[in-house]
Amino acid sequence: MDFEKVVDFRHACKIFDENKKISKSDLNYILKTTIKSPSSFGIEGWKFLVIQNQDLKEKLKPYCWNQPQITTCSDLIVLLYRKNMTSKDEYVIKSLKRRKYFEKSLQKYAEFIDSRSLSEIKCWSKAQTYIASAYLMLSSASLGIDSCPIEGFEHENIKNLLDFDKQNYDISYMVALGYRLNHPKTLERRDFDELVEFI
Ligand SMILES: Cc1cc2nc3c(=O)[nH]c(=O)nc-3n(C[C@H](O)[C@H](O)[C@H](O)COP(=O)(O)O)c2cc1C
Repeated sequence: MDFEKVVDFRHACKIFDENKKISKSDLNYILKTTIKSPSSFGIEGWKFLVIQNQDLKEKLKPYCWNQPQITTCSDLIVLLYRKNMTSKDEYVIKSLKRRKYFEKSLQKYAEFIDSRSLSEIKCWSKAQTYIASAYLMLSSASLGIDSCPIEGFEHENIKNLLDFDKQNYDISYMVALGYRLNHPKTLERRDFDELVEFI
């Protein structure tokens, strides 16, 4: 699909067709292209939980403002971010080891990160998952698959229901994937000149 068509196809889908499931090969394509997203220093401080289990989706829904996307979607992707990505983090070190000049990269990374507080690092790490989520949604759209980004949820309650490495990761947000039930509204955006400034 032409890229602009992909962009125009994507919208925040409010309800999915429960009878349509994403095929395994399409889902793999979406996730494989998603993990090609850029990340700072190439660390890839994220994880993607794929929820297909209907019972679990039903349990999550009340803590997601009862949004119908949660239970009607085919796959609910929960994006996790890595929390303590200091220069001592073994996960960070493993990523940096792929670089030609590991010692130099580690030193540069330490200068970049180690003066920041853990809450600043968390914020920085979480922000990067939004880039991956754009890949996720646009990759889906390129296959004619709909999505809805979902930040409307009770973080701690959702966290309690999900099984993941909570020591090292936390929930960023979610993206529901599936096939639209209804025709979307026309995409509304502010004027180009209001948002884009050439300086
Ligand atoms: C970080 C983020 C969180 C969002 N959370 C929700 C949500 O919880 N529920 C929902 O229906 N839409 C959610 N949206 C979708 C936006 O409301 C939607 O993208 C916006 O209104 C523009 O509509 P469009 O995407 O259809 O063009 C979220 C979008 C973003 C980027």
